[in-house]
Amino acid sequence: MLAPMKPLAIPSAFTTTFTLEYGVTEADMRRLYENAKRDQWNASRDIPWSDAPSPDGRVIADELIDVYGSPLWERLPEADRVTLNRRIAAWRLSVLMHGEQGALLACSQMVDIVQGADQKFFQATQVVDEARHNEVLSRYLTDRLDGLTYPMPANERDLFDSILSESRWYLKTIALQLVAETFAVALFKMMSESAADPVLETICKRILQDESRHMGFGMLALPRVVNEASASERRELEDYTCFALEKTLTGFFPLEAYQDAGFSPRQIDDVKRYRRETAASNDYAPFRKYFKRDMHGSMVANLARLGLLTDRVRPRLEKLGVTLPAS
Ligand SMILES: [Fe+2]
Ligand SMILES: [Fe+2]
Repeated sequence: MLAPMKPLAIPSAFTTTFTLEYGVTEADMRRLYENAKRDQWNASRDIPWSDAPSPDGRVIADELIDVYGSPLWERLPEADRVTLNRRIAAWRLSVLMHGEQGALLACSQMVDIVQGADQKFFQATQVVDEARHNEVLSRYLTDRLDGLTYPMPANERDLFDSILSESRWYLKTIALQLVAETFAVALFKMMSESAADPVLETICKRILQDESRHMGFGMLALPRVVNEASASERRELEDYTCFALEKTLTGFFPLEAYQDAGFSPRQIDDVKRYRRETAASNDYAPFRKYFKRDMHGSMVANLARLGLLTDRVRPRLEKLGVTLPAS
């Protein structure tokens, strides 16, 4: 039995805008709100919880395990491979589940901070969406993975500490709806296409429907902020974008999952080395290659559309291994 995790306390202060005009002023934003109401789903009713799990107990494709294909993997007995598959899945889903709670809290703050009824109404729908994602992943871990849950990695904690203590909505939006959700969309897409458990596949597909709206909020709300920013404000937007990218794209090694699966410190070092070599040569299974291309492609396209793919941002993206089109 895992020890219960202590709640985090993150101080925050922001100004709440009480909007006294409730008519439509941003038609596209109002449409996004209408879509959100139309496309609500219910984790109790719309997920086939009683469907049989995969016969061998696998949850995700083995190719998603970093050590897959290495000499160490080749020597692992089948039972250990299944154990590792379940532990790694629980670790990755825990990261996502904590991210859903962080998103829920950030969006509830944004309901207060954003101006105008259209934006507030939409953010209110994102609050309920993120609560549902938090709920559905928690139920999945309880129902299908024996309640295995892992703590939040340091980089995720840093990212949400910053998002939740930041008083300006547009910086929250850059980190959450632009950077973190672009990454999450590519990840949920890859997991839905490669899941070994049909219940996980359905959950990922359902979450994806909501995430495209959330990214839509960023793409609708941010252009005005970027266009109207002074030179120094623009530098701040760029720096915050890079901070969010660095926290989202690095530092996610499922150490505790390997430890729990019985890997020694030396074996874990081997896994890390194999992981670095595979990343450097991009020698992944086809769907992992596609994930990387998809995620980098949409990240770059969205940053470019918002005017944030500047000469200050490009080298920092390249340092993170993101391939850029020629400027
Ligand atoms: Fe979410
Ligand atoms: Fe989301």
